[in-house]
Amino acid sequence: MRPATTIVQGSQGKDAHASPLTTPIYETTTFLFDSAADVRAYNEGRSEKFLYSRYGNPTVLAAEKTIASLEGAGMAMLFSSGQAATATALLGLLKAGDEVVCSAAIYGGTLHLLADLLSRFGILSRFATLDELAHPERLIGERTKIVWFESPINPTLRCVDVAAIAAASRARGALSIIDNTFASPLNQRPIALGVDVVMHSVTKYLNGHSDVTAGVLAGPAALLAPVDKARRMLGGVLDPQAAYAIGRGLKTLDVRMARHNSNGLTVARWLEKDPRITSVYYPGLESHPDHALAKKQMSGFGGMMCVDVGGGLAGAERFFDRLKVFRRAASLGGVESLCSLPCLTSQWGHTDAQLAEAGITKSMARLSIGLEDPQDLIDDLDQALAL
Ligand SMILES: Cc1ncc(COP(=O)(O)O)c(C=O)c1O
Repeated sequence: MRPATTIVQGSQGKDAHASPLTTPIYETTTFLFDSAADVRAYNEGRSEKFLYSRYGNPTVLAAEKTIASLEGAGMAMLFSSGQAATATALLGLLKAGDEVVCSAAIYGGTLHLLADLLSRFGILSRFATLDELAHPERLIGERTKIVWFESPINPTLRCVDVAAIAAASRARGALSIIDNTFASPLNQRPIALGVDVVMHSVTKYLNGHSDVTAGVLAGPAALLAPVDKARRMLGGVLDPQAAYAIGRGLKTLDVRMARHNSNGLTVARWLEKDPRITSVYYPGLESHPDHALAKKQMSGFGGMMCVDVGGGLAGAERFFDRLKVFRRAASLGGVESLCSLPCLTSQWGHTDAQLAEAGITKSMARLSIGLEDPQDLIDDLDQALAL
């Protein structure tokens, strides 16, 4: 072969002698076939081969299999963000005239997707309060195809009865889909509670290192088949580099969650005793309105909490600006502790009435407790609260 051909084709492909311990990053857009019969076998579903990375990639599949087994699901599908997972699920499962019953206390991106974008294509949404979600059977009508909800909920960490919503949905022929991001699959396993499909912003606990944006859906293969088709058409797939990072992050999920759980409880207990604090919202505290429910359906309470420092938005801003160990940033679920103010992030622009409806005050700060020494986190909160 001449030089131009050698440098292009010389060292491509797999090494027959290498048996890697870790999953290699299959940084390839396309995959080789030996013959036309080989391609035909792929097309007819008689082959385990890969064709094109938008349809599937071994590095992505390896991380998907791990998440499927964590959730006890038939399959999992990774996406380029949590929002891509949500949008592809809704577009893959719904048609014009179908209704989604959605918790009003939901991630803002989900709410806007339903209210502002999918509404333009004839998909109807009904937003339900927590009180209404306590009687899910009353919410599900003829047109309801999906009940979409979260538990625990941002930023108050209120919980809804996962098994009750799943059972009411199933009894009325609607699919239940939970955003399990705040809990993680180690603290809450919704499929075992009867939920059809679990969604995560993998950007948070599953990856855990605040360096990858990704999303996932986990559920029965037959149910997710139209979503798989939609993913091919919409193209919100995950890059193999990002899938590798997620596969690596997942290996420490168990030890990370154990530390998030214990740090979370330690910090929440300290905050609860501090007279300078108006309230602390953490489902692991006996004082939380949904503690009994959280104990029933969760095996750990995670690192997310919300603290009301009093003094209105000025009080929250003063506390926020004085933090030294907690980093001032949105997002959650990473190794480093973060603080954000709901009034400046998720609830930005909300009226006083909307805040009251969601149980949110201007003096609330949301904490994502990371893996640092809990005493350093407590010392930081202590100095930020000093008068
Ligand atoms: C609960 C929850 N669901 C979904 C999302 C959206 O995920 P992503 O940012 O990965 O698209 C987020 C992001 O903050 C979230 O907190």
